[in-house]
This record gives sequence, structure tokens and C-alpha cells, in this order.
Amino acid sequence: MFELTAEVVSNRFVSGITWEIVLRAKEIAQTVKPGQFVMVETRREEEYDPLNRRPFAVADTDGELISIYYDIVGRGTKRLTTFRKGDTLKILGPLGEGVFPIYPDKRAVVVAGGIGSSGVSLLVKKLAEEKVKTVVLYGARNKEFLSMREWYENISRKGVEVVFYTDDGSFGRKGFPVKDLDEFTDSSAVIYACGPKPLLKYLKTYSEERNIEAYLSLDRRMACGWGVCLGCVVKTLSGFKRVCKEGPVFLAKELMEF
Ligand SMILES: Cc1cc2nc3c(=O)[nH]c(=O)nc-3n(C[C@H](O)[C@H](O)[C@H](O)COP(=O)(O)OP(=O)(O)OC[C@H]3O[C@@H](n4cnc5c(N)ncnc54)[C@H](O)[C@@H]3O)c2cc1C
Ligand code: FES
Repeated sequence: MFELTAEVVSNRFVSGITWEIVLRAKEIAQTVKPGQFVMVETRREEEYDPLNRRPFAVADTDGELISIYYDIVGRGTKRLTTFRKGDTLKILGPLGEGVFPIYPDKRAVVVAGGIGSSGVSLLVKKLAEEKVKTVVLYGARNKEFLSMREWYENISRKGVEVVFYTDDGSFGRKGFPVKDLDEFTDSSAVIYACGPKPLLKYLKTYSEERNIEAYLSLDRRMACGWGVCLGCVVKTLSGFKRVCKEGPVFLAKELMEF
């Protein structure tokens, strides 16, 4: 885990409510594993609000750079949009011991809901590099909210099958990204997912009923991000686990309440 002052390389509006910030954070870029995240201080040094850092997935890396896609939902994310090229901000990471495992011989079925697309993109990149047979089912409420569409279109040129979904049918197939799961899964598949809680709950039930291994990346409000405050626990078969420390990725069948 590194605590860095990272230079902002770019910070741009993408679409819908999503922005992408690119930071120079060499130590994190070179060590982050699929599923891990960083805690970002969204205030400037001279400010006191928001006090707590905010958790974000590392969506991509390029040399010394890391990329974060973030939805504007509140104070911290709104503050983040004010950072400009050349500014600096403090980040902590990579965090989380529960990462996505890669199974070279299994068919990978990656389900991404909304901004959850940034929680699985590094995994998809790794699967493509390792030439694992992979399909991505990426859904959002409408075309504008498919904010990582360009990123996924690019990776689809590297052998990954990508199927887009929108709730309103404005792009790709109409409906939720889980609606055609039977078309893409069999008992040799492994499911990976990040997205809204109802999507993850659906996948837990779906995978258990069919005895398919599934790994879910959970989202929790986090105060510390490194296991100290106990504010992010979930109930598992082996007791309470901290999403920031033992997660954020958990085997679906281990989860009791989340
Ligand atoms: C491991 C992890 C990785 C994440 N990765 C990303 C990412 O890559 N991109 C991204 O856009 N978001 C991501 N999130 C969610 C992100 O951390 C929150 O949206 C962010 O902290 C909100 O900060 P804020 O100050 O803007 O909102 P606040 O002002 O703190 O809250 C605004 C509203 O958002 C709700 N909220 C705040 N935090 C969360 C949360 N963690 N989950 C659900 N609702 C929340 C609050 O209840 C409130 O209603 C991730 C969360 C976790 C735990
Ligand atoms: S956020 Fe503090 S223990 Fe997880």
C-alpha cells in the first residue's frame, strides 16, 4: 500500500454523470491487481471538506498512469471535477486483498452494471492479455450512462466479446445485462461482476442454483479503506469480513448478507 501525492494528467467529462481522471501514480499503476481500489482525497490540501477519502476502482493503467471513471453522486465526486491538469491530490492504494482470480481454462463471463464497468475493466484487460475466452455483458440505464463504452469497444478488438445492454434500448440489446446469461454460461463458466446491489444479488442466486463459481465486487461506504474503522463489514459463512480489507471481491456463495 502506497500513500502518494499524484499529479493530475487529465480530468474530463465522459458522458451521463461520469468523468474520467488520469493520475500519475507509478507505484500503484505497477502493482494494482484486478479488483483492487484506491482511496482518493477529493479536497485540496488547504481544505477540510470532505474529510474522508473516497474509494474508487482502478479502471485502467498505462505505464505510470492510472485511470479512474467516477460518477458524480455527492460532495466528494463533485469536488473531484474541479481538479485540473497539473494539480495534485493524495491517494492511498492499491487496497483490498480480495481480488478477481483468473482461471485460464474457464470461460469468463463478466457482468458490469453502470459504473461497475470500472470495477471489472482491469480484469477484462488481464483476461484479454492472457487470452482467456471472455464475454462481457455491460448494461446501463441508457446510451449516455454506458460511459465506458469506448473503452469496451476498444478491448473488443483484442478478442473479447462485448455485448451492450440499455434499459431503454437506446444502445445494444434492450434490458438488463443478466437477461441472456443462459446464452453465455455453462457449468465450465466463471462469473465476475460489479454493479448495483440487485444485480449482484441476482447473480448470487443464479450462480448458486447452477453451481457456477461467481466473484462479486461489493460497494460499501468506506471511512478508512484499510481495515481499521470496521465500517464496511458484510456477513459471510466464515464470519464478518471487511469489504475494504478482505474484499472488495468475494466468492458469491460465501456471502450471507450484503
Ligand atoms: C471498492 C469501491 C470501489 C468504487 N469504485 C468506484 C468507481 O470506480 N467509480 C465510481 O463512480 N464510484 C465508485 N465507488 C463508489 C464511490 O466511492 C462513491 O460513489 C463515492 O464515495 C461517493 O462520494 P461523494 O462524496 O460524491 O458522495 P457523498 O456526498 O458521500 O454521498 C452522496 C450519496 O451517495 C451515496 N453513497 C456514497 N458512497 C457510496 C457508496 N460507496 N456506495 C453507494 N452509495 C454511496 C450516499 O449514501 C449519498 O446518498 C466505489 C466504492 C467502493 C467501495
Ligand atoms: S472502511 Fe474502515 S474498515 Fe473498511
